[in-house]
Formats: sequence, structure tokens, C-alpha cells
Amino acid sequence: MNKILQFVFIIGIVVTFVATNPIETSEEWLAADKEWWQTAVFYQIYPRSFQDSDGDGNGDLNGIRERLPHLKDIGVTSAWLSPIYKSPQVDGGYDISDFKDIDPMFGTLEDFDKLVAEAKKLDIKIVLDFVPNHSSDKHEWFEKSIKRIEPYTSFYVWADAKIVNGTRQPPNNWISWFRKSAWEWNEERGQYYLHQFAIQQPDLNYRNPFLVEEMKNVLRFWMDRGVSGFRVDTLPSLVEVESSPDEPLNPNPGDDCLPEDHCYHDHIYTNDQPLTYDILAQWRDVLKEHSAATDKVPRVIMIESASRIDLNMRYYGNETHDGACFPFNFFIIFNLTKESDATDYKYLIENYFTYLPKGRTPNWVLGNHDRNRVGSRMGVGRIDALNMLIMTLPGVAISYNGEEIGQEDGYVSWEDTQDPWGLNAGEDRYLLFTRDPERTPLHWDTTKNAGFSTANKTWLPVSEKYKETNVKAQAPANVDSHYNVYKTLIQLRKKSTFQNGELTVQAIGKNVLVAIRELKNSPSYLSVLNLGDQNEIIDLSNIEINSATKKLKVEVASVGAKIKKGSIISAEKLELGPNESYVLSTDL
Ligand code: GLC
Ligand code: MG
Repeated sequence: MNKILQFVFIIGIVVTFVATNPIETSEEWLAADKEWWQTAVFYQIYPRSFQDSDGDGNGDLNGIRERLPHLKDIGVTSAWLSPIYKSPQVDGGYDISDFKDIDPMFGTLEDFDKLVAEAKKLDIKIVLDFVPNHSSDKHEWFEKSIKRIEPYTSFYVWADAKIVNGTRQPPNNWISWFRKSAWEWNEERGQYYLHQFAIQQPDLNYRNPFLVEEMKNVLRFWMDRGVSGFRVDTLPSLVEVESSPDEPLNPNPGDDCLPEDHCYHDHIYTNDQPLTYDILAQWRDVLKEHSAATDKVPRVIMIESASRIDLNMRYYGNETHDGACFPFNFFIIFNLTKESDATDYKYLIENYFTYLPKGRTPNWVLGNHDRNRVGSRMGVGRIDALNMLIMTLPGVAISYNGEEIGQEDGYVSWEDTQDPWGLNAGEDRYLLFTRDPERTPLHWDTTKNAGFSTANKTWLPVSEKYKETNVKAQAPANVDSHYNVYKTLIQLRKKSTFQNGELTVQAIGKNVLVAIRELKNSPSYLSVLNLGDQNEIIDLSNIEINSATKKLKVEVASVGAKIKKGSIISAEKLELGPNESYVLSTDL
């Protein structure tokens, strides 16, 4: 932490104990009755690693359907599925060869319909991944585009070669996320095509009105099959500057970044372009039309955006284009590490609210299929504290499958590597980029392949850690487990204080973060998280909340905590072991 922050922090402590200032979550947001998505937990399922029903080593739709009771048991009411569409699986299904069909590895459209119907019976909404930036190079649109067959000729971003000293070169210096030039020469068409991701993922061209309409039809197709919304994949990359200027170098690329890595450039011409915001507004209208024409329930759009905070917030839309739409808040993932202390957390949360547009729904993403699992990234000791945090802050919580048991990354050797990002980095550097470790199969029990599959070889190896960490061991109600912490949190967040209450955040010393939720005429809640690895003794009795804080009830306690759920404690002295964390209430 830099000196200025330390200074602010010291002053902060004195101030916060005199008067606590609630964070400016806008009045509109606090007052409004919430729609289903605004306080939901979206549980991300990575289908290939969730449950294999047919023994081929790959998870599938029927597997997900069999496991719906698990979702019901932990209490999640909406599940977002990573892509299940027809795909050569070069980039984990994000390379789609038919946007309106299911990959045979995952099942059929009938399987999908059955899954949605069964989920509906259990009050679970299904949200799909919508991948608008690119298709697979095996998509028939691309094959026709190569041949200049109308209307597909300009469905993709094509450009002429630049001839330098008589040799053919890409039109500019743009680099793909997965390394090296973002342009690939196509001999047959005699032009380069853009691919911001793998070579097999050509970028679609949103300046073509037929393409724009086709992609709207994709949204309509899946809404007609009963889905409740979409997670929009890599939206900021949707449109590029038309004149294709070279991108400048990143002034701070970091020590591990090489010239052919994506991090080497500052991607100002390939991200967050005005047309992208316009297309998004059109999609929101498509969703609104669908909901108006059917059950009137809002369909949600969740946007994957790794953009700078001000640009990220613009994806919330403006006054004329509001609706059930939010850009993921990835700042916990991007800006916090194992080393972050309570003041870093407090700053991050307050900073987020500083930028959040008025009346918009906050959200908190803890993990996904692109980032190391929480225990591996933030330290196993902090698993419960972090679940407590995202589940008790205002708004939406986004949780990746396996977080309910604190599953850690698996080990995937170079030989077993599947992720194109890892493969493109080569054997020496693949561990810097590969996303396979967070994608290894889910640990259900201690049977073969952790209960994930009966196959002799699963698509990614099952981690050995399943023997200690699995659903079956953690699920019984009397077990002190991450699972039961998670489950209790999901129940608790239904309380009106969590749905509509104000938020205040305090750091006590360097290590203890306290998030306070308050609502008139309702009990107050305090998430007290020891983010440090040392013992802490704290006094909560000075905290000004709207009822006396001499005594507090333990609503949730982290695994191994000394004080058990349901206990009444004195607020004056709370001893916290390393990472020991609680959600406390005035609901005595
Ligand atoms: C998103 C996905 C990631 C994928 C990429 C290209 O970032 O989350 O898994 O590789 O987009 O579709
Ligand atoms: Mg299977």
C-alpha cells in the first residue's frame, strides 16, 4: 500500500469510529423493490467439467440436469452455463460453428429443453453464454465469407495485406489475446481476417446489418427455448476502429510480458468502441421485447468486460437504455491478491460505488473459468471470508462452480494442456497463461473420478484433492464446511436488510474488514472478516448502527471458527484467529 493510502487509512479509522458514513449506493437503488436478477446469485456452470452422464469423460447437459438438486440444495436460483453450442472446442466451446445448436458432446436440443423444463420446476433460471465477437472458422458463415457468397462477404473483418519491401504483411500491429498477430492470411480469399482470440475464432463484423440481425435472432432463438438471459462474452472487443491504426505499446507491460503477448500493447483501437455500446442497446431492446411479449419477467444481460472502471461502467447504459443489464465487476479478481489487506478491500468497494451510475445494480464476481480458483488465487484460508463478502454486499453475486466447496485448482501437465492460451505460450511459459487448472472436473464424492465421470480418461485430469474436498463430505448439515457456510449465506441474503439495506465498510487495523448492512426497522448485519494470517482482538461496540451493539448473534461462522452459528456474543471483545470470519447480526 502506498504512503498516501496509509495516511488516508489512519485518518479513516478515527473518522469511522466517530460517525459511520454509508456508501452512496443510490437512493433509487436502495428504495426500489428488486427484480429477480438484482439480488440473485448467478452460479456459473462449466458444462464440460460439471457432470458426465454418458461416460465419455466430458460433462454434458443430462449431467447438469441430474445435478440440479445440488443447485437447489445450495439455494442458487439462477445458473449461467458456459457455451454448450456446436463447436470444434478449440477454445473451450467459445469457438462456435452453429449458434443455434447443441454440441453432440453436450447432448441435443431436446436434452437442453428437458434441462430448462426441469430447472423451471425447481425455480432455477437458466442463463446462457452469448458469444457475439467471433464464430468458429468452421461456421458456414465463415466458409461462405471466404468465397464472397452474399450476404456473408463482409460478415467478418477482412483487410488487405500491407506490402512492405515487396512482402505481404498484416494490415497493422494488432495482437491476439492468445499471442501473436491478430490477423491471419486466407489464401483463398486473398485477404487477412481479424481474430482477437484464436486463429480459429474469426471476428464478426457488426458494421454489416445482416450480421447484426442474425445475432439478434440467436438471442430470440434461445429465449424462445426458455432462457432467462445471457452472459455476453468479451463484449468490449466487439468492434474495432475502422481505419485500423497501429496500437501503441503498453507503458507498463509487466515483467513477464513478451512482445508477442497481448499485454504488450495498449488496446485502445480494438476495445470499447462507440458502436459496441449501440449494439448492446439494441440487444437490450430485443430482450425487453421478448419479455413484454411473453411473461413480462425481465431477461438479464451480464457483460464480460475487463475494461477500465469508467469504460466498464458505461455498459450499464444510459437513461434511455436501462433495463436488466450489468457489466461484471471483476475488480476483486483484478485488483486484489493474497497480499491485499483490509484497507485495500475497503478502497476497492468504495471506489466501485464512486463509479457506479445512479440507480444501477452493483455486482461482485469472485471467480470464473478464466481465473485461478479462489483458494489458489487468494489463499485457502480466505475462502469463507470471500464468499461472505460477495454474498453480503449489495446486489448480485457471481459464483463459479466449486466455490461452494472451496475447490482449488487442479494440476494439468503440459502434455494434458487443452487451453489454446496455454498451448500458444509453449511448454516453458504455459503455466503463466493456461486456464486449465480452474477447469478441472468438479469434486462430487470419493468414487472414481470424484463422481464426475465413469470414463477411464476425463478430458482434463481430476485433481487428487477430491479425496479431501468434495460435495458429499461437506454437504451434511452437521459438518463444519465451506458448503454449509455458502448455503447459509444464500439463505441469509434473502433478508430484507441484504436486499435493500445500506452499506458501510470499515477497516479495523490492517487486517479486519467490516461490512455493515442496515435497513430501517430491520436487524443490522456485520460481516467481520479477518483477512490476515494473525490473531486479532477487536471491539465492535463503538460501531454506530441503528440498534444497540452490545450483543450480537453469530449468523455464519467460517470453517474452524471458535464461536458457533447461533451463539450470542459480546460486541466489546471479539477474538479472531487467522482468517476467522463471521456474519453477525443484531437479530437477537
Ligand atoms: C472470454 C471467455 C474466455 C474465452 C474468450 C474468447 O474471455 O471467458 O474463456 O477464451 O472470451 O471467447
Ligand atoms: Mg459426456
